[in-house]
Amino acid sequence: MSQDTIESILQEKRLFQPPAEFSEKAQIKSLEEYKQLYDRAKADPQAFWGELAEKELHWFQKWDTVLDWQPPFAKWFVNGKINISYNCLDRHLTTWRKNKAALIWEGEPGDSRTLTYSQLHREVCQMANAIKKLGVQKGDRVGIYMPMIPEAAIAMLACARIGAIHSVVFGGFSAEALRDRLNDGQAKLVITADGGFRKDAIVGLKEQVDKALANGAAPSVTDVLVIQRTKQQIHMEAGRDRWWHDLQKEASADCPAEPMDSEDMLFILYTSGSTGKPKGVVHTTGGYNLYSHITTKWIFDLQDTDVYWCTADVGWITGHSYIVYGHLSNGATTLMYEGAPRNSNPGCFWDVIEKYGVNIFYTAPTAIRSFMKMGEHHPKARNLSSLRLLGTVGEPINPEAWMWYHRIIGNSKCPIVDTWWQTETGGIMITPLPGAIATKPGSATLPFPGIVADVVDQDGATVTNESGGYLVIKHPWPGMMRTLYGDPDRFRRTYWEYLRPKNGDYLYFAGDGAHKDKDGYFWVMGRVDDVISVAGHRLGTMEIESALVSHPAVAEAAVVGKPDEIKGEEIVAFVTLDSAYTSSPQLEKELKQHVVSEIGAIARPGEIRFTDALPKTRSGKIMRRLLRSLAAGQEVTGDTSTLEDRTVLDKLRGGA
Ligand code: PRX
Repeated sequence: MSQDTIESILQEKRLFQPPAEFSEKAQIKSLEEYKQLYDRAKADPQAFWGELAEKELHWFQKWDTVLDWQPPFAKWFVNGKINISYNCLDRHLTTWRKNKAALIWEGEPGDSRTLTYSQLHREVCQMANAIKKLGVQKGDRVGIYMPMIPEAAIAMLACARIGAIHSVVFGGFSAEALRDRLNDGQAKLVITADGGFRKDAIVGLKEQVDKALANGAAPSVTDVLVIQRTKQQIHMEAGRDRWWHDLQKEASADCPAEPMDSEDMLFILYTSGSTGKPKGVVHTTGGYNLYSHITTKWIFDLQDTDVYWCTADVGWITGHSYIVYGHLSNGATTLMYEGAPRNSNPGCFWDVIEKYGVNIFYTAPTAIRSFMKMGEHHPKARNLSSLRLLGTVGEPINPEAWMWYHRIIGNSKCPIVDTWWQTETGGIMITPLPGAIATKPGSATLPFPGIVADVVDQDGATVTNESGGYLVIKHPWPGMMRTLYGDPDRFRRTYWEYLRPKNGDYLYFAGDGAHKDKDGYFWVMGRVDDVISVAGHRLGTMEIESALVSHPAVAEAAVVGKPDEIKGEEIVAFVTLDSAYTSSPQLEKELKQHVVSEIGAIARPGEIRFTDALPKTRSGKIMRRLLRSLAAGQEVTGDTSTLEDRTVLDKLRGGA
């Protein structure tokens, strides 16, 4: 981000106070109330989290100690026994919520389904019994590769119910990416569907699973459970694949939730880092349950009659925490939508809001920017008056998009919660509490109570005078990742030893750059590592480079992000070819397609630039800074004296 942009952001003068009528009824009603919570949590975190855990959740057995912190490894609610599926379902059945809508689902072709808490409980128990029968036991890993249908949530809850560890893989990932994740987690079972509807096409999910498992390439997987969604013809492997509707007929709806240790693994979710293969972020049961629950309650300001809709996919952390677990744990009504805005139906989101009277709407800045482009006549043609709160997540929101969201979707009356967090943090970390904290367009505002955030320099020292630095978290919190699956060393190195202050403290390094303004508001600027964000999807440049070099034509590849008006960033790949190949538009197409089949459509490069050589330092490091400037069509500024061969830069400038 340029210095100009930073300065203009820090001069943002617009301040939006929470509307009085909103604050009156809100969970957290004033800045004073927020400050009290914040100060209490900071002064005595164990008492703060312990009291909330006791008040908000059901425990089969209470913990002995709230926090056992052996940096960088934390245990929360030590020896407590809990089950998140019980908290999301069973405990609501003895209340008026029994017949409340838990999940409202709108399918892409216009079909729909509503499951009450008791109906959802029934289906989860049935699926839990069915997968038990397939041999899945407590501690086993289960891959979930699904379209956005209720069974995706049912599968997650069914795993949690019996203590199996789920690993949801976004349905847009390719067979190769799925296979890597199944192998890393040594999954025993895969739960999938015959296919899914995406935009105006059918995607063959089961086909991808077949490819991932072909020739014994994922040997840990012994069974595949298939949900019928699209009804196209698919291959069913005898002895391995079973239809859910067959097993459901015989499955009992009685399946008591297994009391889990608070620190038992709940799920693994893979995310991209700056180096190496995707990382399996591990979340455990008790702390994650509490953190997703309480952040949902206070940030989305849940009221009993609300219909809440988050447009994320369950394949991402947002779908885990804020479609499934956080909302069901609170007994809320959560809406799931299979579709996506597209040219043939640009107003479909607004139709869903009108149809179900959605009150709380949570989406990504990239989606907002594309709505702006499609035109305000689409939302204006629908009745959106049910909305009372809006949210954004996934990337920094530019003030222009924030203002449009506020005016056009929120009718200038809905507070906006710009929520900063990550797969690793389990839940939202920096955010307005909508009845309490005044907002500034583009700022995620203040840390959630219990979260000690700061902006520091390379030595881990707090930066002053609003100058930028690294965003860090200074104290453990219940929703934090516990480790990287099978790689505790990488966990320690990547997140906790990147920045070490002189006093030896451990700081959690998020990978983001940020500024703090004079009011203490945080402005998250984006990643400072080699991770790019394309339409809010986080991708490691190295992952894409590895995909490219696995093609026989490619000798070397360097991938950078280029600013994009809608998607935030677009992927640009600089590629040198093996001497047996020459560049051509056909090869460019082929390489793009190769990345899609290695990773998935989200990683398709926008542009491939063929070159004779890449700019490197004398020690052989690719100078990405130069490539970023070139990709963005900017002048290359700053020091280029370390370049090994200066002619490379001239050639690249010339478009060689
Ligand atoms: O760079 C930050 C950006 O998304 C990253 C986390 O990506 P992921 O683990 O895929 O989770 C996305 C959904 C929680 C962060 O390191 N990010 C997320 N939310 C914001 C954000 N950047 C700025 N503002 C946000 N509100």
